[in-house]
Amino acid sequence: MHLIPALKELGLLGGLNQPVKLSSAEFAEYMATSSKTSARILKSLEDEGYIERRIVPGGQEVLLSETGRQLLKKEYEDYRHIFTDIVEKNPIQLRGHIVSGLGEGHYYIGQEGYQRQFGDKLGFAPYLGTLNVHLDELSLKIREKLAESAVIPISGFTSGERTFGACHCFPVKIEGIKAAVIVPDRTHYPDELLEIISPVKLREELELKDGDEVEVTVDY
Ligand code: CDP
Repeated sequence: MHLIPALKELGLLGGLNQPVKLSSAEFAEYMATSSKTSARILKSLEDEGYIERRIVPGGQEVLLSETGRQLLKKEYEDYRHIFTDIVEKNPIQLRGHIVSGLGEGHYYIGQEGYQRQFGDKLGFAPYLGTLNVHLDELSLKIREKLAESAVIPISGFTSGERTFGACHCFPVKIEGIKAAVIVPDRTHYPDELLEIISPVKLREELELKDGDEVEVTVDY
């Protein structure tokens, strides 16, 4: 039956710490059900020992019992497990193949204003260039999940006459090698293309050439 959603509602109303005063009609509204059903749910919760009730003028006062609190806590632990532990045990992996860019990566990555921040925030001085990975279709969908991982902001700056835009990085690993995906904040950049920086020249270290498949693992 609706026991857990009902306990959750009562918890949200504050019934974990002190008695909540409410009528069956009010509770029916919270539960999006009829007053008859909500009255039955409250009775079941009481019969099962999940809540304690006291009838007062205009309704009743409801407090979760220790058993009720434990049932709700177990539910909470399950959600915590779903959203944290399971993500940690199933790392986000993106797959794609190596492509050549316009050969501009080394110019941008070499800018002093970026280099300093890479050192401070990523903990490495990148090889001057970006390795471009064209994501496969499935990975493109998974890519959205990157936004949920640790984002490292890199500020824009001016150097001489030019301004260099802000961007953000996601720490990743390629075949166990520390690296980061770098995404410009403003410029529209195609989502299927990942630009990766790393302390080493990955093409040499991993003997990669255009068209080779690689796996990029998000490093939380
Ligand atoms: O734009 P394009 O990828 O052609 O060149 P670049 O960004 O100037 O990088 C120079 C070369 O180094 C390219 O072949 C990159 O794929 C490669 N590279 C690499 O192997 N490992 C890195 N960490 C960065 C760049």
